[in-house]
Parts: sequence; C-alpha cells; structure tokens
Amino acid sequence: VSGRAVAAGDPADELEPVLPLDDIQGNVIPGFNKRHQRLLGLRISDLGAAKRWLARIAPEVTTAAEVQRYKELRRELKARRGGGPSGLAAGWTNLALSAPALRRLVGAGEVDRFEDEAFKVGLFPRAALLGDPDDDEDSPGSPRNWTIGGSEATSLDVLVVVAADVPEMLQFHVERVVAALGASGAGAPEVVYEESGGDLPDGLRGHEHFGFKDGLSQPGIRGRLPWDPKAFLVPRLIAPDHPMAGDLAQPGQPLIRVGQFLFGWAGQDRLLPREPARRREGPAWADNGSFLVFRRLRQDVAAFRGFLRETANELRGVDGLEALSEEHLGALLVGRWASGAPLMRASGADDPRLGADRGASNDFLYDQPSPAFPLLDAAHGDLPPAPADPDGLRCPIWAHIRKVNPRDITTDQGSSSDTLTRRVLRRGIPYGPAFRPGEEHAGAPPDRGLLFLSYQTSIADQFEFLASTWMNDVEKPQDGGGGGHDLLVGQNPRGGQRRTRTASLRTSLAGAVVAHAISTERAREWVIPTGGGYFFAPSLSALVDTLAR
Ligand code: HEM
Repeated sequence: VSGRAVAAGDPADELEPVLPLDDIQGNVIPGFNKRHQRLLGLRISDLGAAKRWLARIAPEVTTAAEVQRYKELRRELKARRGGGPSGLAAGWTNLALSAPALRRLVGAGEVDRFEDEAFKVGLFPRAALLGDPDDDEDSPGSPRNWTIGGSEATSLDVLVVVAADVPEMLQFHVERVVAALGASGAGAPEVVYEESGGDLPDGLRGHEHFGFKDGLSQPGIRGRLPWDPKAFLVPRLIAPDHPMAGDLAQPGQPLIRVGQFLFGWAGQDRLLPREPARRREGPAWADNGSFLVFRRLRQDVAAFRGFLRETANELRGVDGLEALSEEHLGALLVGRWASGAPLMRASGADDPRLGADRGASNDFLYDQPSPAFPLLDAAHGDLPPAPADPDGLRCPIWAHIRKVNPRDITTDQGSSSDTLTRRVLRRGIPYGPAFRPGEEHAGAPPDRGLLFLSYQTSIADQFEFLASTWMNDVEKPQDGGGGGHDLLVGQNPRGGQRRTRTASLRTSLAGAVVAHAISTERAREWVIPTGGGYFFAPSLSALVDTLAR
C-alpha cells in the first residue's frame, strides 16, 4: 500500500519529489527506531585529525536508502510469514556537528549562511528561553548542573547516534566508530560523553518512563522513493480517487513538504497546505541535511506519580469528579492513555485496541469530528470514532499532545496550516532503568529519562517554538485561551512566579461540565533538563566533499 500511481513528469512531482535517499542520513528519514541505541559525544581538538576521522567514518554513516530498504524487506518477510519476527537484525550509525565545530571545519562565513539563530548560538544560551531554571544555580535543571552541554567547556562538537537490534551489534558499531578515531592519528577527536538508550523491557516496550506509549504520531512527509517513483516514502492509505487523498497520508496524518525537515527543498506554506514556501536558508552544502536537537530530559517517575496521586485525590473531592482515577488524570495530562489510545477516541477508559492500531491511534482531530475515509487497507473494525472536542472536555486543551500539535484548531498563529510548519521528526529513546514500584522509599531515584532527539530545518520555528511558545504558555496555542501549562513536560519560565504551573480542568466525567483549577508548585520537578546540544546532520555528499576535505 505504498503508493498511488503518478506518471513520470506529472506536475505532482514538484509536490512529491523523488528523494535522494542515498544522500540523506537514515535517522532523519525514515528514522532508525531501534531497540538499542548509544549516543557518543566528541570534542574536536586538531582540525586535520577531525577531517581524517570524518573521511574514515563516512562509509559507516547509514543512509536513508539503507534504512528504508531494510524496513521494506522486514515488512515483506513478516507479511509472507504471516507475522512473527522477521529474523533480520542491523546496526546503524549517523552523526551531526555543532555550529562551533562547523565553523572550524568550513569557516565562520559558511555557518553564518544558516538563517536559524538558535543553531548558530547553541543550546545552553537558549536555556532561559526554553524555560529551564537557569536563574537558580541550585536547581538540577540549571545548565550549570547539566551532565553535558551546559557551558562552552562541556559542549559537544559531534554527536554520533549508533543504533542496533541486538546489543552485540550495537557494541560492534560503537567499536567501529572508536576504531576510526584511533586510526585518525594524533589529536583525533575525543569521546567525552557516552550514553546508552534503549527500549524499556516487557510490558513497557515502546513506552516512555512515565508509562505512556510514545512515538505514535509522526509527520507525513511528502516525497517518493528513488527506486520506485510511483511509491511514496510515507505509505498512503486513503483511496486515491478521494479528494483528500493528496492531502493526507492516512486519516490524522496530513502531508507536509520535505523542506520542513531537509535543507534544499521547498517548505510548507503557513496558509495554503499545497503551496510551496521558500526554502530555509543555509550554505549550499547544507542541502539534504537537517538540524538535530538533543535534550537529555531526566524523568522523576516517583515525583510524577506523587503529583498524580495527590491531585487526583484532591479532585475527587469536587462534585462531578468523584470517579477520577490517577490513571485518568495521567491520560488528561498526555492526551492519551498508557496504551497510546487517544482520549479523543476513548474518553472514559483505556482501550488498548486503539493504542495498538497505528492508523486508528492517530485518526482524530479536535475542532471537527474525524471524517470517515475510504481506505486501501481498512481494518479499523468497530473502534470508537473521534467526535469533535473544541472546548477540550474530552482532551484538555493543555494536554501535552494537544499543546504540541493542535491539529485542526485555530491557534494564536492562525489557521491549522501554520501548525503543519511546526512539526518535528521525533527520534528520542529512553535511557536508564525502568521504574520499580517501591523504589521511591529506597533513597535517591536512579538517573532515567528521555534522550529527546528531533530533526527539523528551523530549531527556532519548530522545536523551540513548541517548547517556549506553546508548552510553556498558559494562554496558547488555542485561540481564545489555552487554559494551562503543559503539565507533563512544560515549564513556567517565570522565576518570579516560583515556577508555579497551572491548568484549568474542564471535563464532563459524570455528564455535567465541571471546572476546577489544578496548580502545582513542586519542590521536585518530574522533567528536568540535564544536557544536550544543537547539531547539524549533513548529507553524505557534504560529509565527504566538504566537511572531510
Ligand atoms: C520527558 C519529556 C517528554 C515526555 C515524557 C513526552 C511524552 C510524550 C508522549 C507519551 C506522547 C504521545 C505519543 C505520540 O503521540 O507519539 C508525546 C507526543 C509528542 N511529543 Fe512529547 N514528551 C516529552 C517531551 C517532548 C518535547 C520536549 C517535545 C517538543 C518540544 C515533545 C513533542 C511531542 C510531539 C510533537 C508529540 C506528538 C503529538 C501529536 O502529533 O499528536 N515532547 N510525547
């Protein structure tokens, strides 16, 4: 089901270009999505040795073509065998460089050609803008206390992402990166940071540490496969003769111009969904590359659960909220139940069938009911539909997923077309051990959280915009009032307000609409920034022909 036939030379080619997948790094598109990952952070000292290492490592850098072909093979094998494991395993490597590293490699003038200020300045000077507690030196989230990247001295020049299906394969590929460093001569870049990420065990596979299924909603990138120009990178599920077939990859997944994620291509227009917007500016060698945001976000699971327990308890004292469970309050914060089932389709209780169905779990809007489409691969069965919820009675307007992707809602920025320009490709993975019940009584919690990774062509207008303009602002994004902070991840950046976060819960659990304010000023935050950096993931050709030269 990967494609709608379009003849060569069709004007739709401009809208859906053939993507040069062998020039693009594979974690940008289609994304590694592997169970075992390792991040390696390097510091460059000698420039010549750094270039020699880049030349040596370039053949190890996995392309989008390799990842896409692997995924296709895996799908084919599974389909032929009627499910079960594919028996395939692979190990992959990608890398990205910071602005200071690029300045040394190609000159400051070249880096100045990027229009994105955020990338050029780097992450830690933007901490205050992101709402991090940089005004409070004692706070663990202050850049002064970050594990990595909280100052110039601890900032990384290169971030290498290694991913594999099995730990032995991961180790093999990590060793190849290290061996290439060893073979690059005196002054080779040094590994100053190393961190393992991995899928959580057993029932938590695919979930983040608070227990919610993650990685469900990704943008529908426009574009075709070079080896089969009739086929699309992102599978299309709507019957081709339907008028919306050219706008959605599948219900709930609007199509977006590839220029939002790769340099050198037309971007998404803020008003007209099919019109091209100008390309993001950058040096010529940036084409087919992408900015990579890395945020090391520590998660304090006991603090989060404590908040849910105390707040649910308090809310149960309110008329009409007597039945509110901790589990339900958690779902209201996320916008999805633990299984991934969206509140928009399952408002009263979790429905794991919805979480497990990749199509249905994203098929919902907020302002309008999700329309029924004729589907090519329709197996949604009798799953509950997604009605409209403009006022946030099912899914609060401050729920995490509604804050960062308000879908068809009119926002403070204008129509929902603008929202498409804010999307990012999320490639994060948990780090640290899974939470064990009772562990909170055994001293300080272990370090665990999310290695948040996202690709985009504007850090300021995409990643930072989502965090600072929408998650951290009580009034946004919903036009006419947002009613709260993103209580899952957001911050109140105003130190003067003692970082109190608020949200006004309006729900109709027992029929009648009940409104009640939630306010939290916690000694213990549950999402604590502890490091990161802003990087650029170059194309394969830029790596070989420009950066390694
Ligand atoms: C520890 C921190 C975080 C946790 C625990 C978390 C958790 C989640 C969960 C459980 C989902 C639902 C799964 C899905 O729809 O794919 C989600 C979705 C999402 N998150 Fe986060 N998140 C975190 C940080 C962030 C940050 C920092 C951003 C960006 C600024 C972000 C952006 C998004 C986006 C764009 C979606 C998809 C929403 C949609 O399209 O409906 N998240 N997150």
